[in-house]
Amino acid sequence: MPISSERRGHPVFAWLLAAAGLLLALAVSALPPRAAQAAPPPQAATPPAAGDVIAISSDQQCLDCHTAPDQTMPLANGETLYVTMDQAQFAASAHGQADVACRDCHTEITQYPHEALAAQSLRQVTIEKSATCQECHQDQAARVADSIHAQLRADGNEDAATCADCHNPHYQVKVEPRARIPATCGRCHSGIEQEYRLSVHGAPVYANTNADTPLCIDCHGVHTIQDPRTAQFLDKSPQLCARCHADPERMAPYDLNTNVLSTYVADFHGTTTTLFEAQAPDQLPNTPLCIDCHGIHNIKAVTDAESSVIKENLLTTCQKCHPDATQNFSGAWLSHYTPSPEHNSLVYYVGLFYSVFVPVTVAGMSVYVVTDAGRQLIRRRQKGAGPVHPPTDSGSGSRPPAAPPPQPEPPVPAPESAAPPESAAPEVPEPAATPEPPAPAAPEGDH
Ligand code: HEC
Ligand code: HEC
Ligand code: HEC
Ligand code: HEC
Ligand code: HEC
Ligand code: HEC
Ligand code: HEC
Ligand code: HEC
Ligand code: HEC
Repeated sequence: MPISSERRGHPVFAWLLAAAGLLLALAVSALPPRAAQAAPPPQAATPPAAGDVIAISSDQQCLDCHTAPDQTMPLANGETLYVTMDQAQFAASAHGQADVACRDCHTEITQYPHEALAAQSLRQVTIEKSATCQECHQDQAARVADSIHAQLRADGNEDAATCADCHNPHYQVKVEPRARIPATCGRCHSGIEQEYRLSVHGAPVYANTNADTPLCIDCHGVHTIQDPRTAQFLDKSPQLCARCHADPERMAPYDLNTNVLSTYVADFHGTTTTLFEAQAPDQLPNTPLCIDCHGIHNIKAVTDAESSVIKENLLTTCQKCHPDATQNFSGAWLSHYTPSPEHNSLVYYVGLFYSVFVPVTVAGMSVYVVTDAGRQLIRRRQKGAGPVHPPTDSGSGSRPPAAPPPQPEPPVPAPESAAPPESAAPEVPEPAATPEPPAPAAPEGDH
């Protein structure tokens, strides 16, 4: 004030301003500071005369005052608490039906005027009054205490959900319609609910046409919700999807392939994810999970134009991790098909060829090895009986001059010893056994 008056240089102005300022200041300080705010008392049903203290001994007393329309109460932060209740709706609720009374929950309220509220905001009213739930619902309370919402609140995030956010303590009915659940979460996670509402999983929930698709709580849990971006959660997420998608009974009405998990696990991507889970449970997998290809809350039918896996969009999906991929790359991938004459026939026939060729070869080799070992054994026995009988062996003419020295000897020619080369010579034929394997043609049947 002095600055402005001096600059203007008009003492009269300065006086007038000073006087006006003084008057204003007096007027303001004359008012009791909070009278204005405290003024709008709830249009309560006959609020008792100031100073009177009314003891409350029945729920009817609560209702007598609290059913009067449109009563409000100002909170310290300026927000307004609405304190009128709908008696009929309360009576129809899970608690009303179970004869849970006002005072069973509001144990702190024993008289009017009520004890001053500690809560400064609407948010704090909800949090403080939710503490009462654990008196009767210990199980749920214990689970919630370990949830991400409770952890976040403990870390100072007041917005994270508590009991009364998800359950209206006065009006929740016992059997809630399914569609209410995503809406409950959506009060705070509205972006996700919006995506979910348009997804192949969410749309039928709101349309009430399908009880098989997952709600938020089917994937996240109810009272035990955890942070879904940890390695533990993500590594397990394929199993989460598979709970339904590998269940033939559940998938039958939708005619959906139930090999999606088995083909995924067999695939290089799934193999790596499985290894990750086993060997580095704390590390985020770098290979795609179901959700990397299909989306999370916005999953679409694979024939939907917006699907991330429809042919037109698939390459972009692969390019998230394979930036150099071309159309051939995604085209050559087997997806969830096990190769068959219809899908990836080349792979199917190559696989078929190997599935016949390999066992046949192995069987042939085995037969050879066994018969050969048998022959050796017989020879050795015969040798043990009569020391020198070279020519009259088991007969087969193709056999090289039956090598007299027993097996252990051959590989040890002992180069140091000045042994004459002749002694080694007769052994040479023995290794000749190796060249023979060019397997006998299919001694067995097919497999
Ligand atoms: C004589 C009328 C009257 C009675 C009886 C009464 N209330 Fe109130 N209640 C009020 C008014 C008025 C407010 C608004 C705040 C204020 O003016 O104190 C209020 C506020 C509340 C609040 C919000 C503020 C707070 O302190 O938590 C709750 C909860 C509440 N009442 C519950 C109850 C319950 C439960 C009963 C019965 C056990 C009850 N009231 C009985 C008049 C009453
Ligand atoms: C199952 C426990 C429970 C019962 C029963 C219950 N309340 Fe409440 N009440 C609460 C909780 C929790 C809150 C805090 C809700 C919030 O603000 O989110 C609350 C809040 C209130 C409030 C403050 C306004 C509001 O809605 O937040 C009033 C008033 C109130 N209750 C009155 C009553 C009366 C009257 C009855 C009996 C007819 C009653 N309550 C029965 C748990 C209960
Ligand atoms: C005085 C004990 C008591 C308190 C405190 C209490 N409840 Fe309840 N609650 C009950 C009873 C009894 C039932 C009915 C149980 C039944 O029918 O199976 C019930 C039912 C429920 C249901 C419905 C259960 C169902 O099967 O659909 C929910 C949800 C619920 N309570 C939540 C709460 C929440 C949230 C609070 C805290 C604001 C709370 N309760 C406080 C006793 C209590
Ligand atoms: C994030 C939301 C959320 C929070 C927080 C929450 N609940 Fe629930 N609660 C639910 C949902 C959703 C259901 C219904 C589950 C169903 O239909 O399978 C449920 C079910 C219940 C039931 C019925 C029995 C049961 O276990 O299914 C009770 C009782 C209950 N909750 C009490 C509580 C209490 C007490 C708290 C606080 C300690 C709490 N809830 C916190 C969402 C929540
Ligand atoms: C009262 C508001 C509220 C409600 C209702 C609520 N949440 Fe939350 N939730 C939060 C807040 C706040 C966070 C912390 C993260 C954030 O700020 O987005 C959170 C975090 C989460 C997280 C951990 C992810 C993260 O970003 O940390 C999951 C999962 C989650 N909520 C699922 C649910 C589900 C499922 C429901 C319904 C059953 C639900 N929430 C209901 C407020 C809520
Ligand atoms: C089919 C299973 C599934 C359903 C249904 C589902 N979620 Fe999720 N949600 C997930 C998975 C998996 C993640 C982790 C994805 C990631 O972030 O990598 C996740 C992440 C989240 C997150 C944390 C990440 C973020 O984007 O903020 C929140 C919060 C969440 N979900 C809430 C919800 C809500 C609310 C609903 C219902 C409207 C819902 N979810 C339905 C599987 C599901
Ligand atoms: C609670 C069971 C359940 C869970 C869990 C579940 N789904 Fe589904 N899903 C379904 C049902 C049922 C349908 C069919 C919906 C329809 O067609 O109306 C479906 C449809 C789909 C479709 C569309 C198929 C098509 O082309 O029609 C895809 C893709 C899909 N789910 C992927 C996933 C993924 C990925 C996960 C895990 C993050 C998952 N689902 C978790 C039940 C489930
Ligand atoms: C690398 C990308 C990728 C991964 C990872 C992936 N999918 Fe798929 N998925 C696809 C493609 C592409 C299609 C469409 C072509 C087809 O039907 O095979 C598809 C189709 C589907 C379908 C529809 C099947 C039908 O009968 O029409 C379902 C359901 C499905 N996937 C679920 C899953 C589940 C569950 C997982 C994880 C276990 C998963 N997918 C992993 C790319 C993927
Ligand atoms: C989330 C990231 C991610 C996405 C999305 C992804 N991949 Fe991969 N892919 C990988 C990683 C990591 C490897 C290396 C795995 C290993 O060798 O253990 C890999 C390996 C492969 C391989 C083996 C040959 C090679 O290049 O190493 C093929 C083929 C392949 N991916 C095809 C696809 C196709 C087709 C798609 C789209 C439908 C796709 N991938 C989407 C991460 C991804």
